[in-house]
Amino acid sequence: MRVLVVGSGGREHALVWKLAQSAHVESLLCAPGNAGIAAERLAGSGAAVECVGVGAEDLSNLLALAQERRIELTVVGPDNPLALGIVDRFEERGLRIWGPSRSAARFESSKAFSQQFTEKYGIPAAAGGAFDDPAAAKRFAASLGGRCVVKADGLALGKGVLPCSSLAEAERAVDRIMVERTFGAAGARVVVQEFLEGVEISLHALCDGKVAKLFPTSQDHKRALDGDRGPNTGGMGAYSPTPFLSDAQLAGAAASILEPFMRGCAAEGIDYRGILYPGVMLTSSGPRVLEFNARFGDPETQVYLTRLESDLLELLDASARGALGRMQLRWSPLASVCVVMASGGYPEGYARGKIISGLEAAGASPNTKVFHAGTALRDGQIVTSGGRVLGVTALGQDLRAAQSAAYAAVEQIHFEGAQYRRDIGQRALVSGAAS
Ligand code: AMP
Ligand code: GLY
Repeated sequence: MRVLVVGSGGREHALVWKLAQSAHVESLLCAPGNAGIAAERLAGSGAAVECVGVGAEDLSNLLALAQERRIELTVVGPDNPLALGIVDRFEERGLRIWGPSRSAARFESSKAFSQQFTEKYGIPAAAGGAFDDPAAAKRFAASLGGRCVVKADGLALGKGVLPCSSLAEAERAVDRIMVERTFGAAGARVVVQEFLEGVEISLHALCDGKVAKLFPTSQDHKRALDGDRGPNTGGMGAYSPTPFLSDAQLAGAAASILEPFMRGCAAEGIDYRGILYPGVMLTSSGPRVLEFNARFGDPETQVYLTRLESDLLELLDASARGALGRMQLRWSPLASVCVVMASGGYPEGYARGKIISGLEAAGASPNTKVFHAGTALRDGQIVTSGGRVLGVTALGQDLRAAQSAAYAAVEQIHFEGAQYRRDIGQRALVSGAAS
């Protein structure tokens, strides 16, 4: 099969790397890709993966590329093209594509839609409300005692979520989002939610419109600094599985979240094909959904796909065709840890073009894979070109072994200003639940 992957981050490198291992893949393109993706080869034929300079949101040129190269399956990584309706555009022209339609992607592109859906179908979630009017949003925040989370309704590059610990902060947050429009049109509406306490984990389920197949658990580390301090980021590292949820609890969470989700989709006529990624808080009263994402997590994908033993192309193809029912997802019992190396200053301003050394030595360790995120090739050298630069990922017998292997590889890699967290997976080890 001729396959195109859309996107350029660590998630897309992991998707390309795993798809390149499939015997069904005859050629593999990525738009726009990065330096690590361009260095991948198909396991069967040894053919190189080809990166094409078309941006992930340039739907017209992506469509032209898929037609010209007679692509048989397009795999979409990021949220923005999904929200823009890439799946609908491709399907209108008879092109096969994996990912939710624009309407199904509203679970991520509209927090108000998700909030109403969780209430209507009894999905355990943060209690909250959606508001078009700043005064009404403020009144609702006051009814929560001011301790709440104020969210811009639309996509805001992961930045439109403002946690508040007092009514004054909540009122300020409503004004920033709705009046000052700090996040642009995404702030025409807000969702105000109760502030949930607990351990946050990531769930992923592969859906085909009829069934949802749950992945093992994972946990991201969203804050920039050790000890979960500093600003929120796209994700500074992940590991799988997490000890915070037993297999029985995971099955319980699947029943309480995924079953009403699929029932609700059927009732609303939403054909959900793709990954459903609920961010979940493990509260004292059980797992509660904080948000739905309509795509693979980044860096969760890096730890999931290093553990996945099944053929990814077969799974994505079945998801797109509505034929997932009989498919098995097989997972390695090993633990996986991904440490993100970022540019100095991320998530605020950062420099680009820093030469990266030590990649070969780091990648040579057994069970270790260095996924590229923000990298580019310049005069024959690999340089930094984004905030999150690399996702250094390792498998191990247990979480501790995977963590040591990932950090041993991180230590081989150098670029000016590199910053990374030293404690990916640490909370799970300290909790004692991992042994
Ligand atoms: P979101 O973009 O909705 O995923 O929110 C980003 C992050 O904000 C989440 O990953 C949580 O860490 C935090 N968050 C979102 N909603 C809540 C909530 N209701 N209570 C506590 N933390 C939240
Ligand atoms: N891991 C965070 C995200 O993908 O949104």
